[in-house]
Amino acid sequence: MAYAAERFITVVPEIETPGHVQAALAAYPELGVTGEQVQVWPRWGINKNVLNTEESTVTFFTNVLDEVLDLFPSTFIGVGGDECPRDQWVADPRTQERMEELDIAHEADVQTWFTRRLDDHLTKAGRRLFGWDEILEGDLAPGATVASWRGMAGAVAAAKRGHDVVACPDDRVYLDYRQSESLEEPIPVSIPLTVEDVYAFEPVPSELSPEEAKHILGGQANIWTEHMDSPRTVDYLAFPRLCAVAEALWGPAERDFAEFSARLDQHLSRLDAVGVEYRHADGPKPWQKRPGIPGRPASREERAAHIAELVENITAS
Ligand code: ACM
Repeated sequence: MAYAAERFITVVPEIETPGHVQAALAAYPELGVTGEQVQVWPRWGINKNVLNTEESTVTFFTNVLDEVLDLFPSTFIGVGGDECPRDQWVADPRTQERMEELDIAHEADVQTWFTRRLDDHLTKAGRRLFGWDEILEGDLAPGATVASWRGMAGAVAAAKRGHDVVACPDDRVYLDYRQSESLEEPIPVSIPLTVEDVYAFEPVPSELSPEEAKHILGGQANIWTEHMDSPRTVDYLAFPRLCAVAEALWGPAERDFAEFSARLDQHLSRLDAVGVEYRHADGPKPWQKRPGIPGRPASREERAAHIAELVENITAS
């Protein structure tokens, strides 16, 4: 923390809930819906195993958060919230009993209940909850801040509902997405995002009024490493696109990509000097290629259709 603080960086931790918790369930099966012993999940994707609704589970996580608060001075504390399947809650008689006790009519609101409990705890501690845009599918405590990752639908909906927003739309600033149409990109994921695409990132959606736009705190780039087999590959995916993100967020709204490109050429020598193995404009070097690994490429149309389906439960009121 001191190293980060000396560089004016605030580390914002995230403890993922109530899905993406398989590692926690492997260590503490009593937190899960089935109570079965599961293994840590080494694969990419969404896992059906989620947290149960017992008070003891809430207490477990508020205790974990207390330890996190001791370590991290950040105002914002992430609690996840993304990609939480509800099938186990639907099928589980004990969850259904808890829903009755708690007066929760729909499984979608089980997540809302859980997130609110964590939000109450963080708010009492003087911190603010930060979660992925799925948390908009239910009522949210007013202080909660939303990370809009499934495009900008969450940013618009959250700002209109009076919530602060960090914009990180996957179709602009997901730095694990492939960097060209070339089949030689290492383990290609989703749509191509070039340096120019990233440079065009605008975190404030044009459909917001000036008052609503004040809720956009800023933006963030995300990188997930399931398909990256070394720190060198992370360099390849992150750079130089991260330079474009920095300027999109910290530079003036009026930006000129050609002028940026000329400066980026100079900046690449600095990256060379510190040993960052960025992607060169002519594509991957031989060691950066992963021949024969198909990855999960998608077209822009496929991605847009998939995201439209995912965000249909987000409303702006
Ligand atoms: C996410 O990419 N699942 C936040």
